[in-house]
Amino acid sequence: MHMATPLLPKNSTFFHFPLPITKTIPSIPFSINRTGSISMSTSTKMEGSDITEEIRESTESGGNVKKKIFVAGATGSTGKRIVEQLLAKGFAVKAGVRDLEKAKTSLSKENPSLEIVKADVTEGSAKLAEVIGDDSEAVVCATGFRPGWDLFAPWKVDNFGTVNLVDACSKVGVNRFILISSILVNGAAMGQILNPAYIFLNVFGLTLIAKLQAEQYIRKSGINYTIIRPGGLRNDSPTGNVAMEPEDTLYEGTISRDQVAEVAVESLVHPESSYKVVEIVSRVDAPKRSYKDLFGSIEQR
Ligand SMILES: NC(=O)c1ccc[n+]([C@@H]2O[C@H](COP(=O)([O-])OP(=O)(O)OC[C@H]3O[C@@H](n4cnc5c(N)ncnc54)[C@H](OP(=O)(O)O)[C@@H]3O)[C@@H](O)[C@H]2O)c1
Repeated sequence: MHMATPLLPKNSTFFHFPLPITKTIPSIPFSINRTGSISMSTSTKMEGSDITEEIRESTESGGNVKKKIFVAGATGSTGKRIVEQLLAKGFAVKAGVRDLEKAKTSLSKENPSLEIVKADVTEGSAKLAEVIGDDSEAVVCATGFRPGWDLFAPWKVDNFGTVNLVDACSKVGVNRFILISSILVNGAAMGQILNPAYIFLNVFGLTLIAKLQAEQYIRKSGINYTIIRPGGLRNDSPTGNVAMEPEDTLYEGTISRDQVAEVAVESLVHPESSYKVVEIVSRVDAPKRSYKDLFGSIEQR
């Protein structure tokens, strides 16, 4: 039995760490429908971030428009990486942020595929539905409360805020939802109630319990979801490969935010990720596997 290690490693942080991504993108046609399933019109095999592609759909007039993804928490350390990786993969992005001025400095400038909109997840589903609009194919939620004086902030943001986003999706007919959650959210049921990370994060505003509540709401909502539960987040570049396990399995380990963003983006192009909860950490001894294989190895429950 391994000793449990804290979820927050020394080099993890709640704050930003800009990561410019400058990949060139050859064109491979994809199709994502409103149920979240994606088909490629070529036999190209996807292998993590090794291949980049343009993600477009045809319009009735015969033109091409890029698939648009709404990202909540887009100025966050993981959120901004998700935005950059989506853009690099050829998606259009609607970046939901609390502070438009901050977003101007932290997100890519003058990218015609990037739209920045104001979206505070605590302000209710009706307002969120307006900003998500009828042109988003999927919503990625990378929000997390910012530590401060409000003890209820985790509950407001990580539970109610996520619930608001799901309700907004149902209002505008978006049927694909990706959540960045956390390992150990169900720590009590896993026998990890004395795990220092479980104690620390729950003492601080019941954070993990708030996230678990939101997860349960998503799973009951009927929306096509992928819930991604990473281990402790690191800002540094990946040092190992992604190890993906079923829910309520991992209780220690860390992962680079780059890899968490990659898993979120890859979940949008792999139907094997649908209706699944996956736990991820990075391990130097983990074999390099395709995302089709990784997501495919997790059973739906
Ligand atoms: N830290 C860890 O080791 C760890 C481990 C596992 C899972 N996680 C989870 O992984 C996720 C991403 O973590 P991170 O450290 O990359 O995030 P982060 O840098 O703390 O960013 C959080 C984002 O949420 C936004 N946000 C906060 N309150 C909001 C609100 N009311 N409405 C809309 N957006 C709001 C923030 O906006 P502003 O930029 O405007 O503040 C920011 O963009 C979080 O859910 C976190 O709990 C973290």
